[in-house]
Amino acid sequence: MAGQINLIINDRSIAAREGMTILEAALSKGIYIPHLCHHHELEPVGACRLCLVEIQGEWKKTVISCKTPVKEGMVIKTETPEINRTRQVAMELLIADHDTDCLVCGQNTKCKLQQVADHVGVNKDRLGRLKPRAERLPIDDSNPFFDFDPNRCVLCGICVRTCDELQNINAIDFAYRGLGTKIAGFGNKPRIESNCESCGECVVRCPVGALTEKGAKNPTHQIRTVCTFCGCGCGLYLGVRDNELVSARGDRKSEANNGRLCVKGRFGYKFVNNPERLTTPLVKRDGEFVPVEWDEALDIIADRFSKTGPEEFATIASAKCTNEDNYVVQKFTRAVMRTNNLDHCARL
Ligand code: FES
Repeated sequence: MAGQINLIINDRSIAAREGMTILEAALSKGIYIPHLCHHHELEPVGACRLCLVEIQGEWKKTVISCKTPVKEGMVIKTETPEINRTRQVAMELLIADHDTDCLVCGQNTKCKLQQVADHVGVNKDRLGRLKPRAERLPIDDSNPFFDFDPNRCVLCGICVRTCDELQNINAIDFAYRGLGTKIAGFGNKPRIESNCESCGECVVRCPVGALTEKGAKNPTHQIRTVCTFCGCGCGLYLGVRDNELVSARGDRKSEANNGRLCVKGRFGYKFVNNPERLTTPLVKRDGEFVPVEWDEALDIIADRFSKTGPEEFATIASAKCTNEDNYVVQKFTRAVMRTNNLDHCARL
């Protein structure tokens, strides 16, 4: 078939699409190759060196599978004594430079580093020979929605590429060199002072617990729905625990957003359970807000509107409303209040 490449991985014949990398071809057939810096939505960079495989036969060599395209007739081994030894050393160096407080880490059990360590196997005695990091690096908690803990960062660069390739924002990059390398915003200033838009796309792709949502709780069940913040119609899953909204994540099957969300869709759900939320209309009397019934509030509004001239009146419609609601708002403004002083929050 045109565009089909036939190859053998671990003695198993598989068919891959032309242009796929060895790693993509293997993963698509359920063959696990350890990897940390690969993300299917991002350009490969080959930073972690964990995805090594051996190409046998005429092309015999060891390569990183996340950057090597498949070729017709390739014969590949994903595990050999030499590859396993190399992976183990790469793993040990990563773990020696990484916090091992897994039990208090928000990524525990979901962490890719744990997954690779389980697969590769880590020798405690050998780990003991490596010098841990001399001092703890400060946690950047300046962003109101998420924290960055460089002590848990494995420098895979997935956050950097997400910010650049998917979001086109470029708020962060690798800073410094050698052992001092870290992910930082321009001038190594707190994240809140960078041009970060707090979309959280880096947080959801972080393979370890370096980027974590503030106050995150694991939901017990999730409900598929559509974001109500604007008219884009992004699909998302809202997570619920003890009848409280505790999380939001993009729906990868939604054609409107392919699983991506903006700051409002991802982090703007906490108002739902906020105890300060208004539950009744309030009317200001003698400088104080007083709760009243809806009928009374609507009568007051109607009375004031009837005494308001066209040039004293303006409406701002809302992206949170349906098209039909917004149509009625403009009709009311133009036909009843007799003014064109009308705008929409999406323009602000
Ligand atoms: Fe290939 Fe990291 S996944 S080098």
